[in-house]
Amino acid sequence: MVERETWATRVGFLVAAIGSAVGLGNLWQFPFKTAANGGAAFVVFYLIAVTLIGFPALLAEFVVGRRTHRNVVGAFENLGGRGWRVIGAVALFTGFWILSYYNVVGGWVLRYLLGSATGAYFGDPGGYFNAVASGPEAIAAQAVFLAISVGIVALGIENGIEKATKVMVPSIVILMVALAAWAFTLGGAAEGIRYFLSPDVDSLLSNAGSVVPEAVGQAFFTLSLGMGIMITYASYVGEDDSLPVDGGVIVVSNTLIGVLAGLVVFPILFAEGIDPATGGPAALFDAVASAFANLPAGRILGVVFFGVVALAALSSAISLLEVAVSYATDNFNVSRPTLSAVSGVVLFLLGLPSTLDTGDPGGPSAWFVWFDALAYNLLLPLSVLLVVVFVGWVLGWNAVAELREGTSDSGTLATVWLWTLRTVVFFGIIVTLYLGFQTLFF
Ligand code: PHE
Ligand code: NA
Repeated sequence: MVERETWATRVGFLVAAIGSAVGLGNLWQFPFKTAANGGAAFVVFYLIAVTLIGFPALLAEFVVGRRTHRNVVGAFENLGGRGWRVIGAVALFTGFWILSYYNVVGGWVLRYLLGSATGAYFGDPGGYFNAVASGPEAIAAQAVFLAISVGIVALGIENGIEKATKVMVPSIVILMVALAAWAFTLGGAAEGIRYFLSPDVDSLLSNAGSVVPEAVGQAFFTLSLGMGIMITYASYVGEDDSLPVDGGVIVVSNTLIGVLAGLVVFPILFAEGIDPATGGPAALFDAVASAFANLPAGRILGVVFFGVVALAALSSAISLLEVAVSYATDNFNVSRPTLSAVSGVVLFLLGLPSTLDTGDPGGPSAWFVWFDALAYNLLLPLSVLLVVVFVGWVLGWNAVAELREGTSDSGTLATVWLWTLRTVVFFGIIVTLYLGFQTLFF
């Protein structure tokens, strides 16, 4: 077997993990889920979920990956025995499930990027989504998006993912700050920002039953948890990195970029007089596109905006592809480029239902909505719960030892972490699953 790769630098790991975390979840889902769930009220739940449940769970995934230096399935086998491989299998399945529609949205983004450059949607911004979101055009766009991801992953950890994300992530940050500064000058800025940042407590309390699972699901999704990603990325990390510090940097950066996205998107929506609550995934594309169509430097702004979204989506998609490819390279004696290409073809096929079935006019496909709801309400919480149970009780104090590795913690912090996993995180996910079931099936 080929020798296992590692990140060339600690910053390389950080940047790759931030690249994975920052994605469509921040730039597209976070604004539209906030809008659908009562504005700032949702942000409050989300921040609590990220801090109390997401962050400890992220460290749990890091511990599993770095302890074993294995792929997601091999890691659990190595630590717990063959039976525990099932956790890795659930994570792999969840990842493929999500990536199947994530790539489709990635394709839309590329299409809007092209449309901005050529001015293609400027005549009819509202009709563009329907024209490009499904059918052969969407399939082609999805294929292009996947091909880029496959190309990067095929080059490997150091030469592919690390090098690519070192360029992508700083570009995302700089361009987002620039866009937020621009959005601030729009007519709808004050109203949009107020909507985004001042919680409506009534709606918060009356919708808690569906908002809680959405917020927790969003916390997992946004931190790339439950899909084996952070386990896989941490498996390339050495013992002298401080996992809690790295995890903290990732969580904070991811949250800041989500907030920046809100500061860009809501002013645009309000400037265009679009009620964010009637939004949904398509509306965000529609609204942003119509704003650019009306603005003086619309083409350039459109290219920058959709360019940022495309970079963020790509740096996430490659992390998920890497989960499958690292599993395959650890197990089969086949080259990384071949395995990357094979995974790409599988994902392409899995994405077809979401690109073919258009569902309601104006909305995304029925398949797509169903894939997304099941992922948030069921697959992600379940998958993270399994990891938490494993780390909390099977690894237990060994996990504490691993977390302390590379830090100056005398053991207190790591112990608090273990008990947080066993209590707050564990019960938080159980409640989420219960409420998620109700939302899904009743
Ligand atoms: N964290 C990513 C995001 O916010 C989620 C994700 C990562 C989804 C990788 C798919 C693949 O967009
Ligand atoms: Na994210």
